[in-house]
Amino acid sequence: MAAIPLELTESFQPVIGAAVTLRPLQPGDVDIETAFVEGLSAETRASRLLGGAVKVTRAYIERLTRVDYTRDMALAATVMLEGHETLIGVARYALDADDAACEFALVVADAWQRRGIGRRMLEKLIAIARARRVPAMYGDLLAANRGIILLVGRLGFKLTRHPAEPQLSRAVLDLA
Ligand SMILES: CC(C)(COP(=O)(O)OP(=O)(O)OC[C@H]1O[C@@H](n2cnc3c(N)ncnc32)[C@H](O)[C@@H]1OP(=O)(O)O)[C@@H](O)C(=O)NCCC(=O)NCCS
Repeated sequence: MAAIPLELTESFQPVIGAAVTLRPLQPGDVDIETAFVEGLSAETRASRLLGGAVKVTRAYIERLTRVDYTRDMALAATVMLEGHETLIGVARYALDADDAACEFALVVADAWQRRGIGRRMLEKLIAIARARRVPAMYGDLLAANRGIILLVGRLGFKLTRHPAEPQLSRAVLDLA
């Protein structure tokens, strides 16, 4: 397992609210990741394609927090609330087996949406993938998910049909 790339850590001030830190997700984040996933609304889970039926077991959360940073990336957005670090967003990509592209996923806690955090996270994810010479990034999105469709459009992704699922659109960004 590769070392956790802590040099990617940075902080910024969102449109409203406390300073946000972006940093790699780590195995020690199991508790804050559990609280984050459990706190997501049914709508946000469905939009992230997590499905309402996903059982938030400890093993599931441990899998999410153990990232192979040689191939993959997972950025946590955190804020300090009443002295506790709280997870409010996760952006991740996983490199395809043939190394030709990576698939991204992004979710921001309901109470923190529309403050520029998702955009900032996806921009950072793109910059990291580009710096690592990943040729392309894509994401499978519900065609009805207006928020993410607008966001990826602003960041230069092109929307294509999903090869198999009619309710999904595939957003693709050439990183070359
Ligand atoms: C989609 C999501 C990640 C966006 O994160 P966010 O922090 O709320 O987005 P931002 O505040 O950075 O928005 C950036 C831009 O995206 C667009 N956008 C984001 N959410 C939107 C919404 N609900 N309706 C319309 N436009 C939206 C806007 O253009 C926005 O810019 P603006 O606020 O200046 O108009 C967040 O809403 C979320 O977690 N949704 C549920 C999970 C999901 O859909 N994930 C995507 C599939 S992997």
